[in-house]
Amino acid sequence: MTNPQNRATAIAHPNLAFIKYWGNRDDRLRIPVNSSVSVNLDGLQTQTTVEWGVDADSLILNGNYETGRALERVSAHLDVIRERLNLSMRASVLSANNFPMGTGIASSASSFAALTAAAVAAAGAQLSERELTTLARRGSGSASRSVPSGFVQWNKGDSHETSYADTIAAPDYWDIVDVIAVVSGSHKAVGSTEGHQSASTSDLQAGRVAGADERLRICTEAILSRDFIAFAEVVELDSNLMHAVMMTSRPPLFYWLPATLAIMEQVRRWRADGLQVCYTLDAGPNVHCICVRKDADQVKDGLKLMSGVLNVLTAPPGGPTKLLDKPTE
Ligand code: PMV
Repeated sequence: MTNPQNRATAIAHPNLAFIKYWGNRDDRLRIPVNSSVSVNLDGLQTQTTVEWGVDADSLILNGNYETGRALERVSAHLDVIRERLNLSMRASVLSANNFPMGTGIASSASSFAALTAAAVAAAGAQLSERELTTLARRGSGSASRSVPSGFVQWNKGDSHETSYADTIAAPDYWDIVDVIAVVSGSHKAVGSTEGHQSASTSDLQAGRVAGADERLRICTEAILSRDFIAFAEVVELDSNLMHAVMMTSRPPLFYWLPATLAIMEQVRRWRADGLQVCYTLDAGPNVHCICVRKDADQVKDGLKLMSGVLNVLTAPPGGPTKLLDKPTE
């Protein structure tokens, strides 16, 4: 141990995928069937402090002592880190999200990215960013993409070591904003871990996966050349394909609410009228409206007027997972 306090704190942002991760070739190692691309969301964050050397693993999440599945998942992730660092100690984990309560924004990516970085640093170990992405991936696949900065690609790989994430462009490379229309704050009924496991039961998954490399190529090129029109088309297509797989899985997964579809239609109308905006959805009904900075206020104001919209959040591109010298309040 070269960290005498056995304790460290990290913060991480959630991320939004433009080309989605849906389905694993190895569920235990969370090695995905296709590569994906995302952007970190600035302003939204998870802060996690890990302290090794206590009697038993424990978890305080947003001020509540957790037992049951939440603690089991964190403890299983600590096992992965214990194995890698050859540790036998138990850890206490204190974690909090700053996302406004009840927004339904998925927190597993920022949670497992921050947990991984804090647990490794608390043990006094220094690992490469690439290895941290592979460890974070074991907790939640998309957590691998919250470790590096800005616009990030997660290369699917075919083993634990080769399935890693890397920055493709810094946060300030392209001035886009995620304007999030929150239409439900409730916890999703079927989480993504179960969703990944049922993806292959859809007849459409093979077609979605077959075209994923090409969509990723188009998306990356559009980001690097800041070509919003090409970007919008491929991002909406990729989201629609993932939701088509979800809806045709057995049993089917329907995440949309009536307001979800109304917003998607409105976004397409705004784009036809000249605004640079497009939509994408994760495993939930909230709609991420990605737009160029100059159109963000107009999109935000328009969304606020729509029925079924409970709240609107905005997030520009964010930086990497970072260690803090000491926890903030
Ligand atoms: O990392 P997970 O298991 O929470 O899966 C994330 C799945 C989606 O958010 C729906 C897509 C993605 O690529 O982030």
